[in-house]
Amino acid sequence: MAAETASLLPSQAFPSQPTKISSIKTLAESPGLTSIPATHTFTPDLHDQVICVPEGSIPVIDYSLLISGTPDQRSKTVHELGRACQDWGFFMVINHGVPENLLSSILDGCKGFFDLPEEEKQEFKGNHVLDPIRSGTSCNVSVEKAFYWRDFLKFFVHPVFYSPTKPAGLSEISLEYSQRVREVARGLLKGISESLGLEGSYIDKALNLEQGKQIFVANLYPTCPQPELAMGLPPHSDHGLLTLLIYNGIGGLQIQHEGKWVNVCALPNSFLVNTGDHLEILSNGRYKSVLHRAMVNSKATRISIAMIHGPSLDSVVSPATELLVSSKGNEPAAYVGMKYKDYLELQQSNKLDGKSCLDRVRSSSLATASVCVPNHEGNNDTSMIS
Ligand code: OGA
Ligand code: NI
Repeated sequence: MAAETASLLPSQAFPSQPTKISSIKTLAESPGLTSIPATHTFTPDLHDQVICVPEGSIPVIDYSLLISGTPDQRSKTVHELGRACQDWGFFMVINHGVPENLLSSILDGCKGFFDLPEEEKQEFKGNHVLDPIRSGTSCNVSVEKAFYWRDFLKFFVHPVFYSPTKPAGLSEISLEYSQRVREVARGLLKGISESLGLEGSYIDKALNLEQGKQIFVANLYPTCPQPELAMGLPPHSDHGLLTLLIYNGIGGLQIQHEGKWVNVCALPNSFLVNTGDHLEILSNGRYKSVLHRAMVNSKATRISIAMIHGPSLDSVVSPATELLVSSKGNEPAAYVGMKYKDYLELQQSNKLDGKSCLDRVRSSSLATASVCVPNHEGNNDTSMIS
C-alpha cells in the first residue's frame, strides 16, 4: 500500500489534506519514497547562496572563564560575549560543565519519543500554543500553506516542569538537563548584562528569570529524498532571550550573517547559542536576534534540541531605560513594551516568517500597525499597542 502510494505523482499521492500527514517520520519511512509531496515542496531561492566562513570565525565562549576565571579572564570573556552578540547574535559555548553523557542521553530520550507509535505520540498533541506539552509536525499546520520536513515535541520545563510520560526515563532526564542548561543560560545572561554596561543581575531581575519561561523543543528531521526542495525550519528568530541548542552530530543549522547564510558545525560537546527577540528588545537593538533555519538531507536523520530561555510570562519587556540615556543624549526606545506571554502567542499563532513578529513591536511601525493577539479560543482580538 505504501509502495503504491509512493509511486504516484506527489500531488496525487497526498491530496489537498496535508494535515492528514501526522508525521514526517511515517512519510519518510514509506517504502520506495523517491519524491516529496507537493504540500511539502518549496521553490529553491536561486539567490540564496550559502557561504563557508573560515574555520574559527564563529565566536567561541569559554563558560568556565566566565564563572571561575580570574578577574582579567572574566572581563575578557564578558567583552567577547558582547562582541559575539553584537556581530553575530550567535556563539558556541564550551566548558559549560553539563556532562557529555547527559547530552547524549537527552538526545536518545527524544529519539525514543519520536520512535513511539503514532497513536501514543498523538496523546501529547496539545491544541493551543500555551499548552504545556505539544507534539506534531511542521510548525503551525493551521496557518501554513506548505509544510516543513520536521516533527517536533515541545514542553514547558520552567517555572513549572512538564514532560511527556513516555518513553520511560525521558521525564527524569529532561528535568536534569533543563536545570543544568538553565544554569548555563543564566550565567551567560549575567555576562551579557555586564557587556551592555548594566549590573550583572539586571536581566535576571528586570525580567524575573526566577520565574523565567523555559521551553524544551525537540526537532526531528527525517531523511528526505529531495532535500533541495524541502525545508526543515524556515528562516526565523527565536522569541526568547537565549536559545541553547544541541544536535545528534548531523549538521543542518544555518545562521544569517551579514546577509549570507552560513552553515554551522558545533565543536564537540558545545552548545550553539543564539540571541532571541527579547534580548533585542531589552538591549534596544544593540544585540539583534539572529535569523536561522534548518536544512534537511537525504542521508541521515537529524535530531536537535533547542532550549529556549525567556522572561517570566507576565514580564512586560521594553528596552532597558539605562540604555536610553548616554553622554551623547537620549536615545528613543525602538520597541514598545509587551507582555512576553502575548508576544509568545503572537509569534506562535502565526506563520513562522523571519522577524515579522518583532517588526510588530518596533516603535516605527506603530503609527500604522495594529497588533493581533489571538485569544485562547483562537480568534483574533485586534488591539493597538501603545
Ligand atoms: C528551533 C531551531 C534549529 C535546528 O527549534 O527554533 O531553530 O537546528 N532549530 O534544529
Ligand atoms: Ni529557532
